[in-house]
Amino acid sequence: MKDASPSAPAPQTIYLKDYTPFGWTVEDVHLTFRLAPHATRVIARIHFAPNPAAPQQDFFLHGEELTLIRAAVNGEAVSPELVPGGLKCTVPFAPFLWEAEVEIDPANNTALEGLYMSSGMYCTQCEAEGFRKITYYPDRPDVMSVFTVRVESEMPVMLSNGNPGASGDSFAEWHDPWPKPAYLFALVAGDLRNHPDSFTTKSGAKVDLNIWVRPGDEGKCAFGMEALKASMKWDEDVYGREYDLDVFNIVAVDDFNMGAMENKGLNIFNSSCVLASPETSTDDNFERIEAIIAHEYFHNWTGNRITCRDWFQLCLKEGLTVYRDSQFTADMRGAAVKRINDVRDLRARQFPEDQGPLSHPVRPESFQEINNFYTATVYEKGAEVIGMLKRLVGDEAYAKALDLYFDRHDGDAATIEDWLKVFEDTTGRDLTQFKRWYSQSGTPRLSVSEDWKDGTFTLTFEQHTPPTPGQDEKLPQVLPIAVGLLSPNGDEVQATTVLEMTEARQAFSFDGLSARPRASVLRAFSAPVVLHQALSREDRAFLLAHDTDPFNRWEAGNELARDCLLAMIAEGATPDTLWLDGLETLLRDTALDPDFRACMLGLPGQSELAQQLHERGHTPDPDAIYDALQTLQQFRAERWSDLLPKLAAEARVDAPYAPNAEQTGKRALGTAVLHLLSRTDGGAAAQAQFDGADNMTLQLASLACLIRAGKAEPAVQAFYEQWQNDRLVMDKWFGLQVSMAEPGRAVTVAEALTAHVKFDWKNPNRFRAVFGALIGNHAGFHRADGSGYALLADWLIRLDDKNPQTTARMCSAFQTWTRYDDGRRAQAKTAMERIMAKPNLSRDVNEMVSRILAG
Ligand code: TRP
Ligand code: ZN
Repeated sequence: MKDASPSAPAPQTIYLKDYTPFGWTVEDVHLTFRLAPHATRVIARIHFAPNPAAPQQDFFLHGEELTLIRAAVNGEAVSPELVPGGLKCTVPFAPFLWEAEVEIDPANNTALEGLYMSSGMYCTQCEAEGFRKITYYPDRPDVMSVFTVRVESEMPVMLSNGNPGASGDSFAEWHDPWPKPAYLFALVAGDLRNHPDSFTTKSGAKVDLNIWVRPGDEGKCAFGMEALKASMKWDEDVYGREYDLDVFNIVAVDDFNMGAMENKGLNIFNSSCVLASPETSTDDNFERIEAIIAHEYFHNWTGNRITCRDWFQLCLKEGLTVYRDSQFTADMRGAAVKRINDVRDLRARQFPEDQGPLSHPVRPESFQEINNFYTATVYEKGAEVIGMLKRLVGDEAYAKALDLYFDRHDGDAATIEDWLKVFEDTTGRDLTQFKRWYSQSGTPRLSVSEDWKDGTFTLTFEQHTPPTPGQDEKLPQVLPIAVGLLSPNGDEVQATTVLEMTEARQAFSFDGLSARPRASVLRAFSAPVVLHQALSREDRAFLLAHDTDPFNRWEAGNELARDCLLAMIAEGATPDTLWLDGLETLLRDTALDPDFRACMLGLPGQSELAQQLHERGHTPDPDAIYDALQTLQQFRAERWSDLLPKLAAEARVDAPYAPNAEQTGKRALGTAVLHLLSRTDGGAAAQAQFDGADNMTLQLASLACLIRAGKAEPAVQAFYEQWQNDRLVMDKWFGLQVSMAEPGRAVTVAEALTAHVKFDWKNPNRFRAVFGALIGNHAGFHRADGSGYALLADWLIRLDDKNPQTTARMCSAFQTWTRYDDGRRAQAKTAMERIMAKPNLSRDVNEMVSRILAG
């Protein structure tokens, strides 16, 4: 028998409320892989037993793009019915052995899901539903089993999950003793080199660590390895979590849809998220790599040992693991700047999602394609929700609740209900209202007013959440509002205290004060809301000068910057010198860390300003926003001609390059300063830095300034000559030319780069380098003539057949389309309708674009 599966199932909406357990348990799984690029055979031997906890149901296994060679039940050949998305088979109502041999074509798998090939190596990606492209299986996270794997090929290195077993000339066996869902399965085979090390756990177990890379990349592993060991230590120290296998392998892969994947004992990484060297990686790359290595490692407990019952519970592992990796980064590099960066990121990526047509709860209630729900809301807002919970219960109760969670749910496929219950049981609190954070979508708006009478200071808060798709009525949320009070001379008279708001409107009073205080509200951004606080410029300048909470000190400056820019855009105002002088005082304060001062020099992004204008009832004009930012930067460069060289001198690093917090902070300040200096010196300082740079941070920063200054050549060419054979650096080269292009040229530059010999559009990193940069070039993408939308649509239409997952993610570029004027809206709509009209449009893209158009 040799049958091709029917095509993928028709789009169908899956609902959380329809959850039913699978009718069988999987006792064990034995897989044999005979690897061949176009005809890999996968032989599965699986013991099933009826699941007493499940209602009776037909025996159905997921399977897509598989050619079934043979199948047997208890050793007898069977002919299963192949149906869209899998197969059905008559099986005994008793334990039985399932055997199936299938053939797959990894070399033609461009979707990068299932088993595929990347630069001559075999690798897998199974989350969320990729295992069904490897063999027939109940591909759902609540079906957990112990896997034994045999790989047969001529490849020198063959890896899978768990601990190594027997191996020989052309085979290797692996056994993973920990029951796991299929989405954590992984296999890698190739001509790989390793960077070995080891770690001894606090109970004394020695773990072999390896980072596996393509020949030539061995020199880019040392930093990742240090980050891995630091993560292992941190999880022991802070969460009491130890590693649980003899080996931990990481593999770097060039073609990968996302950042990295936490497969049990065999993490697979996009090479951009693990390979690093001072010459080829920026400080930001190093910090990101450290965070992603930690994130994937932390999943070993929050995700793998305790997994998700179904994909609606995705935030159970992702929100918690993002929260944990942000704590790790805060400990490694400083809490204040980490918090500022996280909030900037939340506002840049999650707020537009939550306030637009793609808005969905942290725990969605329905989806068509789960890959479309690996979102900033699930990840980053999911992490914010955990931060709020910790703030409400306190650090000690949080630690106790987590211990209980690991104790009670180790080995489980758990739910958000399980998660909240450990907090209820630990603290005796009722978290019913808090749970709305998981079910209610949209960003709450919080406003605050002040009253001062007879020595009593009162803060009155009001909250409301605007309607979002599918949710017209919103209920009040539990908001932990961290507040501090300052006396008029800037001393703190009330240290940070957490007000717990539960009503739509609620007042909190402070008495025993001798003078009217200044309130510092929502310290450390204690809840993911939009805060409306009617402060005067003088009030904000006071907080900028005196707030003891570093986040709110930054935020005061940020709001002054925003208001200054909005006034420049809407009324042609001149820059606010009250703000700039306050900022200058702070910039001159050498007691403040350079990285904090670098943050203070930052400005709100173009897209954020567009959102702010929209919120205030204006139609944002991308060109006016761009021009205002240019004018402001020019103004600052001229006004601070005396200050900037001083800061540049402070930012100098004389020691050999190291990607540590201290040096990184200095270089961040140096980069912000160079951007200003190169507006008044014709690019001289940037050219000097470019010529003398011995690390990528300085080289790339100076190249950016040169492009901005209109001095792109010959630096762009020199950079190309130097780095043309390094893929990750070439991604930077592609991206920077588009992101730094003047708005009027961005589309032309992007289009020209797509014709470059090194533009490999099937490689997600390269595709994203160009088109991610175009989308990020706000005024360039949102050209009034629609050329930005049209170019993106052309390429999304092209990529959809090859890689729907990456295509769908990039469709979110259109999510803000209704903010803009009629002309732009019409152009965006035309572009999206063209995408919708593509023959055989993927379910991924169909879902994304339909939601965006409907919103
Ligand atoms: N679980 C992964 C993480 O958070 C992310 C992930 C989901 C992923 N789907 C993927 C990674 C597909 C690569 C490809 O780290
Ligand atoms: Zn994750």
